Amino acid sequence: MKRAVLLTGAKRIGYEIAKSLLQEGYNLSIVYRKPFKGMSDLKLFALKSGSKILFLKADLENPSYWESIVEKTFRKFNRIDAFLHLASPYRETPIKSLKLSDLKEHITPTAESFFFLSLYSFKKMLLNKGYVKGRIIAFGDWAVDHTPYRNFSAYFLSKGSLHSAVKILAKEFAPEVLVNCIALGPTLKAENLSEEEWNRILLNTPLRREVAIRDIVSLTLFLLKAESITGEIIKLDGGRHLSGSGT
Ligand SMILES: NC(=O)c1ccc[n+]([C@@H]2O[C@H](COP(=O)([O-])OP(=O)(O)OC[C@H]3O[C@@H](n4cnc5c(N)ncnc54)[C@H](OP(=O)(O)O)[C@@H]3O)[C@@H](O)[C@H]2O)c1
Repeated sequence: MKRAVLLTGAKRIGYEIAKSLLQEGYNLSIVYRKPFKGMSDLKLFALKSGSKILFLKADLENPSYWESIVEKTFRKFNRIDAFLHLASPYRETPIKSLKLSDLKEHITPTAESFFFLSLYSFKKMLLNKGYVKGRIIAFGDWAVDHTPYRNFSAYFLSKGSLHSAVKILAKEFAPEVLVNCIALGPTLKAENLSEEEWNRILLNTPLRREVAIRDIVSLTLFLLKAESITGEIIKLDGGRHLSGSGT
């Protein structure tokens, strides 16, 4: 039986990971909020590789979706082997005008939904055979543990909670399920960032270039097979933590 992965946030980096997972022969359940450009391509990739794909529309800010996402995935594939969480809002929230709703808009889909989707998935993973029964990977940010930059307080609070959730769940879910986080550095420019600012960021990064998406895919595939690593926040950031954000 093919192994099954639940993945949230497949618009950009998540799309490349989803494509590779289909090519590697995984069945895939994808949570999306708004329809995105690559959906039909992913269906084609699934067809070509003989994998099954399920698209589930859900706003992860709404907790009423969480349990049903896992139930529907399990019903479709009869198993869940991994949960990959990339969904994450990224919006400036200047501190002087910060509202509680800004925090909720970031923390709920990024960290709270991760916590509960992981918990529901964990219960399904326990039904799998073998010593390692499942793997969970969160996608965090290099700056959380170093120099969070100005004007993104809600985002950083959400990613900080995500990093903590990874460590907490790695301990709670051991020894059956492994939980890790890939803390990314500059990979793809956010829509709301100018080219000038993006170039400044890259010049301020020791390797002076974007994080290669193929490295993100390779590390993800490694973590989906590894048996001896859990509770790690792995920085994949072109060395940016060595120079800091500069803001
Ligand atoms: N790109 C980078 O350079 C970079 C750097 C550091 C960390 N990261 C992290 O790496 C991951 C992927 O990055 P990316 O650039 O590919 O992300 P992205 O293009 O900003 O996409 C974010 C994804 O999250 C989804 N999302 C946001 N809020 C949601 C909600 N309430 N419910 C359901 N889905 C929601 C979006 O869906 P909709 O489009 O439907 O809203 C989208 O698919 C993210 O976790 C990001 O924080 C990326």
